[in-house]
Amino acid sequence: MSTRIRLTLAFAALTLCAAPSLIALDNGLALTPPMGWNSWNKFGCKDINENVVHQAADAMASTGMKDAGYRYIVIDDCWQISRDANGNIVPDSERFPSGIKALADYIHGKGLKFGIYSDSGTKTCAGRPGSWGYEFQDARQWAAWGADYVKYDWCNNGKQNSEAAYTLMRDALAKTGRPIVFSLCEWGSTKPWLWAKDVGNLWRATGDIVDCWDCKKDWGGLAWTKIIDLEAGLESYAGPGHWNDADMLEVGNGGLTNTEARAHFSLWAILASPLMAGNDIRNMTPETKEILLNKDVIAVDQDSLGMQGRKIRDDGDFEVWSKQLNGGNRAVALLNRSGAEKQMSVSWNELGYPDHISASVRDLWSKKDLGKLKSSFSATVPSHGVVMVKIEP
Ligand code: GLA
Repeated sequence: MSTRIRLTLAFAALTLCAAPSLIALDNGLALTPPMGWNSWNKFGCKDINENVVHQAADAMASTGMKDAGYRYIVIDDCWQISRDANGNIVPDSERFPSGIKALADYIHGKGLKFGIYSDSGTKTCAGRPGSWGYEFQDARQWAAWGADYVKYDWCNNGKQNSEAAYTLMRDALAKTGRPIVFSLCEWGSTKPWLWAKDVGNLWRATGDIVDCWDCKKDWGGLAWTKIIDLEAGLESYAGPGHWNDADMLEVGNGGLTNTEARAHFSLWAILASPLMAGNDIRNMTPETKEILLNKDVIAVDQDSLGMQGRKIRDDGDFEVWSKQLNGGNRAVALLNRSGAEKQMSVSWNELGYPDHISASVRDLWSKKDLGKLKSSFSATVPSHGVVMVKIEP
């Protein structure tokens, strides 16, 4: 055998034995953070059924959410009930009497995309059958039903290695030949930002969101303000096709004031997090609608540069967050966590601009152009709220 052939064989062997995630995920999806609706935050296990999902799809189209960029209708846990004699996953026929394929067809008929949920363990977090040992069979089934998105959880996983477990499902999804966004949900427990870029399109970096201003639950649930504390520092791991997922939104679920919900939505956009509405989009107050449909804020989230924003100043309760946008522009959120309103400012130098340039500033919530400013921007920020602007030099 020639040296050249020997070298080639050695290289091939090395490639085959390499750590699984060295083989890149190249599904070409989620070049901007996915947008859609997920059933879990509002409907949980108890209240999910096909009528809710049908009506959510209707609402996504009729409320203007679809026009604003929301696409994925994702059924979270509790659509599944058992496995049949051949190991096929069986949907809960009481809640989904028409079957999952019919539901996916309905969603597709609205020009939307369909997402489904499973778990890398023996059982899902709500105790339904998981996909461990059935990865390829389940992926095939979801693809046959028309799934465009799979959220894959991390309960009851035994002692599996997370990277290996998620890589197996990545490969199972790829094998179906259907383009499927792959959403990892292991809550940041094994630092997915370090390894998941080549495994999934998005990964949860934190525990489950809770609908409150700053609470923290013993079981690991976190208010959105606690989630952003943990997202700070993960910026460099996000980019087109691979995002830190700050979790589904709580906008419109009742635990936040409208001011707080506006701040929550603004920070998700600054973080380039997926924007998955988690409320009952069939019944929204005008204020909730106005938040979820704010096209200027959505444009910050969806900016094609794909940079996650960062916290550039932390003065206790007063934080300045900034996201680089295409064309040298910046989005800035002045966040006031205190109990009183506060005059806050950001200087051009902090944003990486020379002090002397003038830049157009637009307030993304009042939707007003504030004209051309030099060297800094300041505003009165409401308690528990933000002022969010776009700055264009
Ligand atoms: C975990 C996930 C949630 C949700 C539930 C479903 O807690 O983090 O987002 O999917 O499981 O049981």
